[in-house]
Order: sequence, then structure tokens, then C-alpha cells
Amino acid sequence: MRQQNVQSWEEKLLGMERLGEPVQVFFKEKGSPRLPCISHGEGLYFWDKDGKKYFDVSSGPVANNLGSGNKRVLAAMAAQAENAAFAFPGQFESEANECLSNLVTDLAGDGFERAFFVSGGSEAVESATKLARQCALTKGQSSRWKVISRQPSYHGGTLGALTLTGDSQMRDVFKPMLKSMPKVRAPATYRLPEKYTVESFSRACAAELEDCIKSEGAETVLAFIMEPIGGLASGAVVSDDFYMTEVRRICSKYGVLLIHDEVMSGAGRTGKFLASNHCIDAQPDIVVLAKGIAAGFTPMGAVLASGSLVNAISSNGGFLNGFTYFANPLSCAIGYAVLQEMLDYNLIANAAERGAEFKNALEELKKYSKYVGDIRGKGLLLALELVADKETKSYFDRKLNAVALFQNLALKNGLMIYARRTNYGEFGDWLMMTPLLIINSEQVRELKNGLAKTLKYFERCLQTD
Ligand SMILES: Cc1ncc(COP(=O)(O)O)c(C=O)c1O
Repeated sequence: MRQQNVQSWEEKLLGMERLGEPVQVFFKEKGSPRLPCISHGEGLYFWDKDGKKYFDVSSGPVANNLGSGNKRVLAAMAAQAENAAFAFPGQFESEANECLSNLVTDLAGDGFERAFFVSGGSEAVESATKLARQCALTKGQSSRWKVISRQPSYHGGTLGALTLTGDSQMRDVFKPMLKSMPKVRAPATYRLPEKYTVESFSRACAAELEDCIKSEGAETVLAFIMEPIGGLASGAVVSDDFYMTEVRRICSKYGVLLIHDEVMSGAGRTGKFLASNHCIDAQPDIVVLAKGIAAGFTPMGAVLASGSLVNAISSNGGFLNGFTYFANPLSCAIGYAVLQEMLDYNLIANAAERGAEFKNALEELKKYSKYVGDIRGKGLLLALELVADKETKSYFDRKLNAVALFQNLALKNGLMIYARRTNYGEFGDWLMMTPLLIINSEQVRELKNGLAKTLKYFERCLQTD
């Protein structure tokens, strides 16, 4: 495989215009391919300004769960905007906030009787850690402030959330500005360190958490944050029940609060409202949600905790946290309509059923492709890992950026895929296979065919001449 060859293929096959100097809008690196300009969307599909249609393979960045144009959500949005698009929770209570809180806490189940809404995942993660700190203070444990997180992981891009994020690619530039927080290894199921099996590695990772708490000094450790099913940073790694319950046991033993970051895995995506619900003996103290909870119709995040945890803080001055847009009525009304729609159309069960069908379809593709090394995940939170050699699990040449190549080929082919190489590719190269929760069986087949075609293009690109 030659770099030059790939580059020329990319140019020829993709024919993508390159970005020049940024003008008013800036984001991407100079020279990266120019992206299509959105015209409109309907259900699982988008159209660009040139009339080209795209299948949304990943629900945007695993957020757009209901697709575009949902009538109930649009009606709720208009009705709330007409009444009061904005009313600050510091000045007004709102029915929209109350209805959404009741519904979300009902769906989350026992132990999550209180909800606090913010504008996204990073804000929710930061709010959860502030809640944890105030919880410790109510118990007279002011020495607790460290939040242990995992490597690899992603918990957000704001500086506070970035201290927890286990993705060196996103952190390195900002490192001097970040407080250092302890990191422990996260279980893996495909690429394992030498001499480990999946089981022995998950045991080792749990033991590492306990060692870390002890070496940091348990009296200084406030919380442990983890994604119960991995997101983009690990490519949908599902930890086994042993690890989940052992982490719960260790956190309880040392009085460390357990936070599950369900920004990607929550709101029905894995076939349960919370991914935490898959292992009932490993329930966290605090849950963080975002993305699917408002399905991309409005920026929204949430922190869920037990009545007793929140009541203790309420009786000690209240939660010292707030943002201009927290629990704003418009977003809450939208979130409520999104969840009602999910319930009416059984979309959580659909995530489990279509997820199983899609996983089988991806396994078939793996059988026939020499570059698909692993398929993993749960429900509709799946990932496809690309490898240079299936036998040895060897990586592609780093300069190639196989993920970006596949993504661009798919785009040309009408498939919109969410992927970003994380941790400089240290843990592998994968693509998020996370279609909308409204997907049906026929669309699963359509998606399989589109991916099969893209894999063929990908293989042609990598052929040496
Ligand atoms: C697990 C997880 N936590 C936190 C975040 C941050 O969310 P946001 O981008 O909404 O700030 C993300 C975003 O992808 C995520 O996947």
C-alpha cells in the first residue's frame, strides 16, 4: 500500500474540492475536503444543495435519533416558542421542565429521582462533577476532589471535561491548561495487551481502579467517571458484567461516587433507556445524558441523581451551578416531545431489534472483507474496526488515515458516517455504525449494501500497483 497511490485515488475517486483559507466560518484544516452544504433532511436521509441524497449512518454524531422533520417535535417546538421560548429557571418555574424531569426520571428508574437540564454533554459532565463535589461536602468530606477517568474515553471538549477525557489527541495541545486527573485503563475486547484474555484484562482494569484509589488516597478521590458502553473514543466497547459490578463494589467500598457518562449510550440507543440498565447490579450514583435526549432538535444535556443525594445538597445551600440556558422551556418542551415519540413508536425496543439485525449484517461484511477486523457494540451503538491485516490485527500506515479515507469514500457513495481517529490511532481505527432509532429492516439492508459497496472502493484504493 503506498501513500502516493492512496492520495491519487482519493483525488480521482472522490473528486472532492479542497478547502482554502478559512473565511468567516472556520473549523477544518486547510486542504481538507470541502463538505457538502445541507439543503434539508427527511427521516434517515439528508439532501445537499446539489440535490445529492445521503443516508445518515451514524445519526450525525450519534445524536439525531429521530431524523429530520418529525411532526410532533416540530409542533411542540412551535407551541412552546409561541408561549415562552425563554424563561429563566432562576425567575420562573416551567411546566415543560417539570414534565421532562418527570418523564426522564421515570424512564431512568429507581435511584434517579432528580434531573437537571443543561445545553450539552460537556456541560452535563461538568455539572455532574460539581454535583459530586457538593455531595462530598454535605458529608464533611472536603478532601475529596479527584475524579478518576479511563483511557481511552471522551467526556467533552470544555477544559473541565477535557481533564477527564482520555484522548491524548484532543488533550495534548491544551495540557498545560488542564488540572491533572488520574487515569486508569478501560477494558478492551479486540486489541488486548499481550498475555491477556478479554476476561483477565477486564479483571486487571477493575483491579487497577482499586489500586489507583488507594495510591491517590481514598480520602482525596471524589468520583470515577466511565462510559458504560464506549462511544467514539473506544469504538463502542462493551465491558462485561464482572467489570461493571466490580467497579460498583470498589466505588462503594471507598465512598467514591460512580458517574456513568451516557451522553452517547443513553436515551434508548443501546436497547434500554440507559445503558446502565443492562447491568442492574452496577447502578451508578449519577448519570449524564445529552445527544439523543433531544435528538438534535435542540442543544440539551442532563444530569440525573437520586433524591437523597440532591436533597442533601438542597438542604445545604442548593446546587451551585447554572447557565443562561439551563432547563430553558423551549429545549425542555422539545426533549419531552422527543421522548414521547420514542415511547409511542417503541423506539427503544427497535434499537435492540434493528441493532441485532444490523450487527449481523456487519458481521457478514466482516466475513467477506479483508479489512474489517471487528464489529462490536450493543443495540444501535455499534462500531466497525478497520485493520490492515485481519490475522495480525496490524494497523494501517498512520499517514494513510484509513478512517478519513473510508469516510470520504462513503460520502461520495451517499453514506454519511461519523468517525474521527482518536488517541492518534493508538487503540485502532473505527467508524461509528449508529443509525437512527427509527431505522427499519429494509433500511438496514439498504445500509448493508451501501457499506459493502464502500468497502469495495476502499479495497481498490489500497491495492498496490
Ligand atoms: C461520552 C461523551 N461524553 C461527553 C461528550 C460531550 O458532549 P458535547 O459534545 O455535547 O459537549 C460526548 C460527545 O461526543 C460523548 O460522546
